[in-house]
Formats: sequence, structure tokens, C-alpha cells
Amino acid sequence: MSLEAIRYQRGTGLYLLNQLLLPHESVWEPVPTMAEAHAQIKLMKVRGAPAIGVTAALALAVELDSRKNLPTLPVADLLKWIRAHLDHIATSRPTAVNLFDSIDKLWAKAQEVAEKTKSSVEVREALVALAQQIFADDVKDNVAIGQHGMEWLVKAVPADQASQLRVLTHCNTGSLATASYGTALGIIRSLHANKKLAHVYCTETRPYNQGSRLTAYELTYEKMPATLVTDSMVSFLLKQHPVHAIIVGADRIARNGDTANKIGTYQLALAARAHGVKMMVAAPLTTFDLAIADGSAIPIEQRPAHELIRVTGAVVKNGMPTSELATVQVAPQGMNVWNPGFDVTPAELIDAIVTEQGVITKAPGSKVFDVAGFLKTV
Ligand code: MRU
Repeated sequence: MSLEAIRYQRGTGLYLLNQLLLPHESVWEPVPTMAEAHAQIKLMKVRGAPAIGVTAALALAVELDSRKNLPTLPVADLLKWIRAHLDHIATSRPTAVNLFDSIDKLWAKAQEVAEKTKSSVEVREALVALAQQIFADDVKDNVAIGQHGMEWLVKAVPADQASQLRVLTHCNTGSLATASYGTALGIIRSLHANKKLAHVYCTETRPYNQGSRLTAYELTYEKMPATLVTDSMVSFLLKQHPVHAIIVGADRIARNGDTANKIGTYQLALAARAHGVKMMVAAPLTTFDLAIADGSAIPIEQRPAHELIRVTGAVVKNGMPTSELATVQVAPQGMNVWNPGFDVTPAELIDAIVTEQGVITKAPGSKVFDVAGFLKTV
């Protein structure tokens, strides 16, 4: 069974795996309200662009089901309640557009059904069904991304190397960052399942260590041939132990293909270009923001200073990690810190954007992607 981060069943509720405790402990926490979902997203107990969007939708479904007074409200009052709760969850994290995609879809559906039926019960039923659909679609989309990405990469490398692929990934884009399966890690999972993966390197992904804590955990769990490296080792790694592709996820992709993803992605793309390595971005269509022309309009989350100056990990006893966590400080108190959670990789440095509908590449001679043009063809 593959790992999962989100469990939901109507009637049973929504539970999230607390990712702050991984890989040392697996603790599932209930999410009975939108306010609790906001807190868990903000604290990064759940993280990863698709997982955040799915969590928001399912939390709304759970609260609509559990608050027995809501379906008895006049439909206009229910809409006001829904709008206020969607507005609040929108303030949890700013960069991943999947959250706003879920919010927009839920709000559009609420308005459509309210207009048509004037029934609060019907609005609730439609939103619960939509949230379940968003959850299910993400799994399906990731599996499709895995297949498309694998097929593209196999064709992009010399035929005699196509069954011995070596790749590098950054941050965590796997089952823990999505409804299941993963985006960039989904492609790597597909390569492994099809016996085409020779080796995967994963970066630590400082300062939050999504790579060493979460991706390394997924790779170990799946028994893939994998090696952990620090973020600062990548250029030398590409020189000493070449890989065929760097495969990353995305938090928001602009119309021209500029891609916001975990801090450090931009420098990986520069290193990839310098070493002739393919740079692949993998993301469902819920990660595209067609309202923005390029990456300069993407809001970048600033994270707290303590993430840089302190490190949290498991206490080691007799050479083995325990489930006891400890935080230690590695930089002097009072040191100034700049801690953007994401950066923007210019489209020019990206070779392919893999979606559930296929792979977007640039027209010959173009430095940017025509995302809107691609979407018209699918
Ligand atoms: O800060 P995080 O852990 O939420 O950042 C996650 C990433 O940047 C991922 O690469 C991105 O969300 C894609 S997850 C499929």
C-alpha cells in the first residue's frame, strides 16, 4: 500500500497525517472544521500544492455535514457562511494556486446550485459531491502525469539509455503532497514500476527538509534505488554522476510557463541547463494560473526566521532515532534571515511541463510556453 496524507469518508470525517512528525511518527489528526484546516495548512502539517487544495475542499464538506443548523438556513445565509469560510481559508498560504482553484470551484458550484434550486440542502449536497470529486480527480490526474512524464522522458533520451534512467527531484511531490501517487514523484514512481529507473537523487530541500524528511521517507518506503544529497551538492553531482532529468513539481504556473516551486528549484534549473540535463515540471491543471502572464505576478510566501536558524529532528538513542523530537539552534540568536518559501523558474529554463492532459513543450525557437494554446487543444 502506498503512503497517504489525507483520509476522508463521508460520515467518518477528514484526517490528515501530521507531516511535522514524519518520518519518525505517523499521527493522524482530525479536521472537523475549516478553521482547523486553516491551522493545519498554515502550520504545514499538510503541505504540497494539490494536498492543500484537496484539504480545503474536504474540510468544507465535513463542516457542512457536521453543522446541523447549516441546511436549515435560508440559502442566502448559507452562501454568506460559505463565502466567509472560503475567504478565511484563502489566507492560510499564498503561493500554491491549487487552494484558490478549489475555492473558486466550490464557490461557483454553491452559487450555481443556490440560484437553480434555492435549497440549502441541495447546496450542501453539491459541495460535498464536488469536494469528493476534487479528491478523486487529483489521484487520477497524478497517475496520468506519471504515465505522460515517463513516456516523454523515455523518448527524450538516447534509446540505449531509456531503461536505465537517472533522475533528481527536489522538495516532496509524492503521495504526501497530493491526494495520492504524486506529480514529479509520480513520474519517478511510474519509471520505477516500469523498470526504467536506475537511480533517483533527492535533495534535502532546506530549510524545511521536505526532501530529507518526506521524499526520502517515500523513496525508502517504496524501496526505490535512491540517494539523498544536500541542495548545495547538485551542480557537482551533475558533473560527477550525470542524471537524465531533474523532475520537480509546481505551486503555480503562469501563462508563459514561468513556474513557482519550492525555493531552490531555480538554481536546479540553472544547473540543469549548464549540464545539458532535461528540466521537467510536473503539475495538474489545478496548478495553472491563467490570470497571470508571467512569474513576476506570483505571490511568494515568506516563512519565519526560526526555520533557518533552528533544526528539528528525532532524538537519537543507542544509534537509533526515537519518536522524541528535539529542536536545536544552529545560527546565532538575532541573526537576520531571508526565508522565501518558493522561487520562480523562468520558462526559458524548463524543457517540459507534464500535465494529466499531456506534455507541454515550447514551439521551436520560443523561450516560453503557450499554456493557453495547449489548453485549447485538450
Ligand atoms: O512548502 P511546501 O512543502 O508546501 O512546498 C511544496 C512544493 O513546493 C511542491 O514542490 C509543490 O507544492 C508541488 S507538490 C505536488
